[in-house]
Amino acid sequence: MPAIEAPKTAGSLPSPSKPTPTFSPDKVTVVFVLGGPGAGKGTQCANLVRDYGFTHLSAGDLLRAEQDRPGSQFGSLIKDCIRNGDIVPMEVTVQLLENAMTEVVDGRKKSSGDNGKPAKFLIDGFPRKMDQALKFEETVCPAKFVLFYDCPEEEMQRRLLERGKTSGRADDNSESIKKRFRTFVETSMPVVDYYEKQGRVVKIDATPKPEAVYQETRKRLGERLGDGL
Ligand code: C5P
Ligand code: MG
Repeated sequence: MPAIEAPKTAGSLPSPSKPTPTFSPDKVTVVFVLGGPGAGKGTQCANLVRDYGFTHLSAGDLLRAEQDRPGSQFGSLIKDCIRNGDIVPMEVTVQLLENAMTEVVDGRKKSSGDNGKPAKFLIDGFPRKMDQALKFEETVCPAKFVLFYDCPEEEMQRRLLERGKTSGRADDNSESIKKRFRTFVETSMPVVDYYEKQGRVVKIDATPKPEAVYQETRKRLGERLGDGL
């Protein structure tokens, strides 16, 4: 089965102007995790998976996997975007996320592993652009809120260059990092601002050591999700 399938159509009926999202927010909890490159999103998500049973979906990881999938029609497009720190066209990323979520939700149903509780997703590195945000919430699932890791550029650059020694990532070099920072400021921060205006951002200072950032994360998520954590 291809990782990306043709869009769903409503047969001969005209498609509604506002499609119903695939997942209801009553059944599926979605938390977006944002922050500049190197802010520590992936590290914190791994902690939350370990302690609270979230499923972690990193948009960047899904794109890298699709890039490497033999036969993918998007491989070279994704490769160019990632190296240049550009945002991949949102249709690709939104579909990859929806496919991954469907797999998890269906798997839980089959194994009756859901106990009637919502599946909880951390969607990491997404939405990085306004069109992704709108498309995802309209067609896949409305998000509960955004967990935003705030970190100064100098610190993020230091972390990325350190990671670049071993990550093997094509974009952990100073040239790509510069472009990624620019994209973050120009394209992704407006997304954070959009959610902030709606009171839907939990902002956490990501400058301290990972363990301290995690303690703060637990506290703030507990306040926000209560029993849902
Ligand atoms: O989050 P991460 O740093 O792994 O993302 C790597 C790259 O993947 C980004 O710089 C961008 O090119 C692409 N990406 C994207 N849209 C997203 C997340 C990542 O285009 N929502
Ligand atoms: Mg990451």
